[in-house]
Amino acid sequence: MGDRHNYALMKNKFKLLLKILGVLLLLLVLTGFLGYLYFNSTFIDFEDEYAEKFNFPELTKDNFTFLDRNGNGDLDDYEDARLSVSARVSNVLSLMTQEEKIHLLKGSGLASAMGSGVEGEGIPGAVGTIVPTPRLGIPTIYLSDGPAGLRIQPTREGEDRTYYCTAFPIATLLASTWNEDLVYDVGNAMGNEALQYGIDVILGPGANIHRHPLCGRNFEYFSEDPLLTGFMGAAIVNGIESNGVGTSVKHFVANNQETQRNSNDVLVSERAMREIYLKGFEIVVEKSQPWTIMSSYNKVNGTYTSESKYLLTDVLRGDWGFEGLVMTDWFGGKDAVAQINAGNDLLEPGTKKQWDALIAGAEDRSLSQAAIDTSAGRILTLIFNTKKMQDYRFDNNPDLEAHANTTRKSASEGMVLLKNDNTLPLSNTKNIALLGTTSYAFIAGGTGSGDVNEAYTVSLEQGLTNAGFEINKVAKRIFEVQKAANKEAYIAPEGIDAMFTPFVPPAIAYTTEQLKEITATADVGIFTIGRNAGEGGDRVELDDFLLTTLEQETIAAISTVFKQADKKLIVVLNIGGVIETQSWKTKPDAILLAWQGGQEGGNSVVDILSGKVNPSGKLPMTFPIHLNDHASNANFPLDGEGLSLVGLMTGLIVPPDEKPETEKLRNKDYTTYDEGIYVGYRHFDKAKIEVSYPFGYGLSYTNFEYSNNTVIVENDTINVSLTVKNSGNLEGKEIVQVYTEKLASRIDRPAQELRSFAKTRNLKAGAIDSIFIRIPVMELQYWDEKQNNWALEKGVYRINVGASSRDIRLTGKVKI
Ligand code: BGC
Repeated sequence: MGDRHNYALMKNKFKLLLKILGVLLLLLVLTGFLGYLYFNSTFIDFEDEYAEKFNFPELTKDNFTFLDRNGNGDLDDYEDARLSVSARVSNVLSLMTQEEKIHLLKGSGLASAMGSGVEGEGIPGAVGTIVPTPRLGIPTIYLSDGPAGLRIQPTREGEDRTYYCTAFPIATLLASTWNEDLVYDVGNAMGNEALQYGIDVILGPGANIHRHPLCGRNFEYFSEDPLLTGFMGAAIVNGIESNGVGTSVKHFVANNQETQRNSNDVLVSERAMREIYLKGFEIVVEKSQPWTIMSSYNKVNGTYTSESKYLLTDVLRGDWGFEGLVMTDWFGGKDAVAQINAGNDLLEPGTKKQWDALIAGAEDRSLSQAAIDTSAGRILTLIFNTKKMQDYRFDNNPDLEAHANTTRKSASEGMVLLKNDNTLPLSNTKNIALLGTTSYAFIAGGTGSGDVNEAYTVSLEQGLTNAGFEINKVAKRIFEVQKAANKEAYIAPEGIDAMFTPFVPPAIAYTTEQLKEITATADVGIFTIGRNAGEGGDRVELDDFLLTTLEQETIAAISTVFKQADKKLIVVLNIGGVIETQSWKTKPDAILLAWQGGQEGGNSVVDILSGKVNPSGKLPMTFPIHLNDHASNANFPLDGEGLSLVGLMTGLIVPPDEKPETEKLRNKDYTTYDEGIYVGYRHFDKAKIEVSYPFGYGLSYTNFEYSNNTVIVENDTINVSLTVKNSGNLEGKEIVQVYTEKLASRIDRPAQELRSFAKTRNLKAGAIDSIFIRIPVMELQYWDEKQNNWALEKGVYRINVGASSRDIRLTGKVKI
């Protein structure tokens, strides 16, 4: 009886448990479903009533043929391509309803970025859009990353063909070329690829300053110096935009760390802003007037940049005369109304929440009518400037082969030869031992939105094979055994995973016996060190800036065994950002900083090793001895905190509340730029700190002599002229750098600052190039905090003409 009772009791309990579990499960499914609906209708797909219209009737009136975009049978001014863009825009604005104007101010959500574009309608992988206005026949405009080439989805549902894009070299490598014409050509190829794939605006280049070597996105940025940043940025913008494709110069401004990038508050002096962080953008605007600028995620001195009228309207437009539009970084900032009022014209990728907020803002007048009209006008101006508006039919067949050639050429020109003890170019070399995993799995570029979906990456192994070298079998076998034992670790993550997981395959530990076996058959050894980083996280000192213990042991062991065998050892750095070099640089015979050279990386390295190309790259940043030699190290997040996909999603749905001041964490919630203007060489030179390789440094296989220096001031311009002679035996190019130094300065200013540079043409042995450099006197100004304005310090300036910042060959003086 008791047993039966217990049994019935248990059965009931069990049933109850099942019921509870069932209800919980139902609740979970329901919450999931509702969550999905909410997420979908807020962030992904909420544009049901604004489907783009295509195929407009072609009409002819008074001998003029036009597309009747609104189907009214008449020629409206905005349909008349003979009129100026501004006339067409003002006409279309006058025809738009308030609802249509507000609709334009935000993108269409993430659908396209997630690859869910319907065939023939969207461009899968394009990360954002400017929405269409179907009633007036205004098309959708596609925006796509990024700084090293286009990032769209390589495959499409129901299609056999692929849509691969060219992985060009990373921006840091491009800056190392110091060659504006070449960087223009790279931009031209990128722009052409965008045009042929139907993309109207490339989200790049990045023009943030390398404030600290560990910023995870430094590879997307050019330099620690604003002048080099500005010149390179303008060159690539001009190249891209020569195709009728726009650019978005990003991330405006002071986005110098990835840790808590979406809310980090940069506390920085106005002088450092003007002279360092804004300066690069200012030069880009002046030299290339880009179609768009992307505001950054962070705050500057308490205000989100995307909500800062001061930065977006007063400085960018007022002081610099920027004519284009400003878009937010993806989901950047908080208050849609404040953003538009501040002059941030376009909210990307756009959410339903923002749309609702703008409608409400217009109704309660917190969003001004003037701001709506101005921003809508700027967006329409961009649309009318696109090829899309000219009914250009893209063919989805860019010349990928030609672009691969551009990549190969530009990458070899931006590689920097750091050391060469009679080792390179290779001669009498047949058999090469490739050491280190990265030699076999070359890294083309960084991760995140700066990544590209390329068809292939040429490894160093392939590059050497292509050039007719023999790959040492012993070294290769060791690599293969290692790979077979770690199969999983060699599979590079793809898609969204790749965005959050910088891929570096595992390193190899060699025994002395193995190394001896290798040197017995190899003529030369190449040890490749790889690093990878990207969006969402910063790098760390241990095992990243510093070599890992295994890497240190490997370099020591390899160099010993190779020396004993009287064979040369070359180290190739396949990295995206600065690493420590001082402690080990004496060990190998040569060091080539190959950066991440895009999809042809292996071929480009071999072009240098073989001597087909004489290296002519120079460092766009300093390689310090210690990380904490950088003044910025005192205020930089050093624990590499990364962004997770879950964190990102949660942050989108429930944006974190503003923390009370007392709870804010240093270098996370806020970062104080105590070093002011003393970034990179400006600090090392001023504080007289020894470095491993200085800013502007790079070797060649030949030598250059500088002579005949004249420096004069004429019409508010400093004219520098000199001759550069190739005094060595091989053809090559030289980068000449001009720094200015104020003698007996009354103000606190850097010891010297880069004011201009020039690259010679390819000089045959014995050939001479005449270099003329013009520096407007106004460029010598500093930002006077008291006057809150630029000021020119009168007196004598020394003009330093150098092969690097620490190799000044000629000097002259001018009195201002
Ligand atoms: C990045 C931008 C990028 C955008 C679109 C953001 O997370 O910061 O640089 O253009 O995503 O992919």
